[in-house]
Order: sequence, then structure tokens, then C-alpha cells
Amino acid sequence: MSDDQMHGGPAPAHVAIIMDGNGRWAESRGLPRLAGHRRGADRVHEIVESCPDLGITHLTLFAFSTENWKRPASEVQGLMRLFRRYIKKEGARLVAEGARVRFIGGRDPLDADLRALMAGLEARTVENDRLHLTVAINYGGRDEILRATRRVAEAVRDGRLRPEDVTQDTIAEHLDTAGLPDPDLILRTSGELRVSGFLPWQAAYSEFSFVETRWPDFTAEMFATQVRGFGRRERRYGAIAG
Ligand code: IPE
Ligand code: IPE
Ligand code: MG
Repeated sequence: MSDDQMHGGPAPAHVAIIMDGNGRWAESRGLPRLAGHRRGADRVHEIVESCPDLGITHLTLFAFSTENWKRPASEVQGLMRLFRRYIKKEGARLVAEGARVRFIGGRDPLDADLRALMAGLEARTVENDRLHLTVAINYGGRDEILRATRRVAEAVRDGRLRPEDVTQDTIAEHLDTAGLPDPDLILRTSGELRVSGFLPWQAAYSEFSFVETRWPDFTAEMFATQVRGFGRRERRYGAIAG
């Protein structure tokens, strides 16, 4: 047996998580939905911390979708408060732990003070590379592809790019995730079997894991189990098993 087989195969370098189920976690306990979001935000630290030991170099977290604005204003505002709190509370620790933090998603609709906190944390961690932590706020895959397409179209209009020179790499380089590897494993909590707009371009050959556990109950141990499960899969990329 090879070393990889004994240990269950290679770890996924890049794991992306759809952190779902906060609202149901709270409602099932008779609590307001925001209590679930608070508990969910508190779970993030443990999962982030566990990545280096699991061999994960890139972690991407879906925190707020372009569709989540449809929720009641009080819930949206509460989530935005939690994002501010997370950056203020965890920022120094992320810097110290060598995490490189990036945010993906359209920034224009976010409040100026939150945008400043996000840009500040990105700037403070730009030299780090122990863990690449990417947080998706106001992210939608169609919105991302639309914004990328506009920028490519502008480059063509301005004569910086010829249509025949547009390649898959051109598109990838204009997405919010430019420079990041594609996710190896995409994990969704809370039992929903859909992607809700998460990383449609990047997920072309990702493996998927759907777990029943709601995000506020999802532990580092459960995460490790999913990561080990990934190691037993065979990825073929359209070729023949070998
Ligand atoms: C995920 O939990 C967090 C966000 C979408 C912001 P939900 O709030 O979607 O929780 P459920 O799906 O309603 O339980
Ligand atoms: C996806 O979850 C977005 C995040 C986890 C941030 P949703 O709860 O918004 O997705 P749907 O509405 O169930 O598809
Ligand atoms: Mg949900």
C-alpha cells in the first residue's frame, strides 16, 4: 500500500464551505435566527485553526450571498454586524497565525466602514501564506461571472485585448478568485443538496460533500472526517480510471 492509500489519499488543498443551517439551528431551539448566526460565526475559528494540520492550504467560506439581501432588514443588519465583529475580533489572530485573508463578492453594496475593515485586513495579511482564507460576502457566482465579463469586454473595447486572445485563463484571471486554485472539495452543511450560486466556474471539477449537521453544530472533528473521505475518492477529470 502506498503512503497515500494508508492515510486515505492526499488531502484537499482547497476546501470551500457553504456554511448553512444557522437559522434552523436557532429556530429549533426557540431562539431568534440571529442567535444561530452568532453561534455560526463562533464556529469559524475552530475550523480555520484545524486546516494546517489537515494539509489544507486554502479555505473559502460562503458567508453571505447576493440573494441573502432578500431576508428581513434586521437579519441582514445583524449579519453585517457579525462580519464587522469577526474582522475586529479575529483580525489580529489571523495576522499572527499567518493567514492571508481575501474577500470575494461585489463590495459596492456594503457599508463603507465594513469595506474599510475588509480592505484593512486584506492589506495586513498580504504577505502571509500559511493559510489562504477567503470569505465570500455578497458573493454570487453569476454576479462574479457578469462582473468579470464586463471587465473583459472593457479590455476588448479599449484595444488591450483581442477577442481571439480570450482564453479560459483570461476569464479565471478576471474572477474575484484570480490567483486562487480551484476548490478540491466543496462542503455544505445542513442537508441542503444545492450550491446556491457558490463558485460555479471554479467548481467544474470539485468533489462535493453534503452533511446533515447544521453549521453551528459542525465541529473540527466532523470536518476532519469529511477531509479524510475526500482522500478515498478517485478524480478522473474526464479521463479513464487509472
Ligand atoms: C447560513 O444559514 C448563513 C447565511 C445564509 C447567511 P441560514 O441563515 O441560511 O440558515 P437556514 O438555512 O435558514 O437554516
Ligand atoms: C447559501 O445559503 C449562502 C450561504 C451559506 C451564505 P442560503 O441559505 O442562502 O441558500 P438557499 O436559499 O437555501 O439556497
Ligand atoms: Mg440557509
